[in-house]
Amino acid sequence: MIFDTHTHYDDKAYDGDRDELLSSFKEKGISGAACASAEWDSIPAILALCEKYDFLHLTLGIHPNNALELTPEHRSELEALIEEKKPVAIGEIGLDYHYEEPSREVQKEAFIYQLKLAERFDLPVIIHSRDAAEDTFEILKEYAPKKRGVIHCYSGSPEMAKEYVKNGWFIGIGGVVTFKNGRKLKETVEQIPLENIVLETDCPYLAPTPHRGERNSSLFLPLVVEKIANLKGISTEEVEDVTEKNAERMYGISIRR
Ligand code: NI
Repeated sequence: MIFDTHTHYDDKAYDGDRDELLSSFKEKGISGAACASAEWDSIPAILALCEKYDFLHLTLGIHPNNALELTPEHRSELEALIEEKKPVAIGEIGLDYHYEEPSREVQKEAFIYQLKLAERFDLPVIIHSRDAAEDTFEILKEYAPKKRGVIHCYSGSPEMAKEYVKNGWFIGIGGVVTFKNGRKLKETVEQIPLENIVLETDCPYLAPTPHRGERNSSLFLPLVVEKIANLKGISTEEVEDVTEKNAERMYGISIRR
């Protein structure tokens, strides 16, 4: 079956049919998903979803564009939540220089703070990195030398992906690999071992071709599986099985199939 390592099912895009969609997972070949938190106010809805559906797994963290939300009060609340709710990972965290909002310095401080949290609670991390490949790489090298986790929605070079893989990181592959202009990512998939790839949607965003621009969901992941199978010259079953086991190893969970 297929495990989706990165979703945002709290998004209002699902308000009309969330329960119907999530309840159809098993029959559509989706064994589960991780619900990534990105902003402070999204946390209660994500907590509720993960409590309601045992195949949804909680992650806790603040997205770099929302780094200013990590006030001292929120930091102690976040730490208490991690202790109480036992997320499977800290994320999504990282650097996003696309809008430089807030400043790079603020983003870096929040990133390093959350990497240290992951260290303290012995949790993997979900890394968001946009237009910030070098700084992300350097910070992870310094602050997370032995940390496990995923470079989510990977957008760097195949060379850098191989460096991450050498250090034990997983590379998150989603809809972009099916895009016509996704050549760099296709090369990355060809060049790294399947044992270091996890599947993800980042839904509601980044729906694969031919659904590009539509609302994405885990149900579209077979299109990504097919693309990876083609690129690597292997069966779709192998892609599903190996990436599902990778997700179990990465998040330290056992997936009920
Ligand atoms: Ni995301």
